[in-house]
Amino acid sequence: MSIQWFPGHMTKARRQVEEKCKLVDIVFELLDARLPDSSRNPMIHEIVKDKPRIVLLNKADLADQKWNERWIKEWNERGETPLLIDAKTGKGVGQISNLSEKVLETKFAARAKKGIRSRQIRAMILGIPNVGKSSLINRLAKRTATQTGDRPGVTKAQQWIRIGKSMELLDTPGILWPKFEDHLVGLRLAASGAIREEILPVEEVALFGIEFLQQHYPSAIQMRYQLGDLSAEPINLLEQIGQKRGCLRRGGVIDIEKAAEIFLQDLRGGRLGRITFERPDEERMKIEEENNQ
Ligand code: G4P
Repeated sequence: MSIQWFPGHMTKARRQVEEKCKLVDIVFELLDARLPDSSRNPMIHEIVKDKPRIVLLNKADLADQKWNERWIKEWNERGETPLLIDAKTGKGVGQISNLSEKVLETKFAARAKKGIRSRQIRAMILGIPNVGKSSLINRLAKRTATQTGDRPGVTKAQQWIRIGKSMELLDTPGILWPKFEDHLVGLRLAASGAIREEILPVEEVALFGIEFLQQHYPSAIQMRYQLGDLSAEPINLLEQIGQKRGCLRRGGVIDIEKAAEIFLQDLRGGRLGRITFERPDEERMKIEEENNQ
């Protein structure tokens, strides 16, 4: 999905999400497990306020398992309820219902005490573009696959999808913008494919990806491309990738842009292995530094 975010668009998106939030008991905030903080909307707390929520770390199949576990610990420490999922194959998706019941247990018990008749949990999915919202809706819907249709008393256009016995889900997700004002965040989003349209030059994104792999996953780059000296400058490695993949222009000149595209396709598609682009420790350090300033 290609969305050009500008202030008017953001205001509209925010308003739409706030309206939808009023209809549900719980929000499923979808983040990319490879870059959880960078794929989070910067104003999420102001927009969702105190609505109960579950943080779903999607695309866990593409992220480094070691860091997946560390991120779960981190989100728990931040007082959230996190869950690793893979909306493409459905791994982890089956736990969402139970977890929602657990999160809402006290609230629903209090309602029962007041004599309010129990009903299904109403939920919505929220996240930035390309994080896997539609995949998750389809994955959840497939299980029991009935749309419950318009509900009297609720905004007419909203459709609900029944998920098992205890839950219904808004059929359209809330779409919010990512944190693109920070250049490093932009590079991470672009390298992972979270920003699909090339907002940043493809060569710059590829060089960022190569440097990151050199530092953190050298064997991944070595195994895929069998390059010579891995400590060479990122641009030299990109040239070598171009050479090996036959990205040549007339006269034998290496087509760097083509090489960058090939490398990024490999990186985004998981062909370089499971990569996590940001780590909780460095995020915490950044927050501490900001607080000390
Ligand atoms: P959106 O609604 O939030 O915009 O995202 P959408 O579901 O369209 O997913 C964006 C891309 O991410 C899709 O790939 C989708 O298949 C992929 N995706 C979603 N969840 C997961 C996941 O858990 N793991 C992996 N590996 N990929 C996931 P695409 O290339 O656009 O489409 P396609 O190749 O699946 O047809």
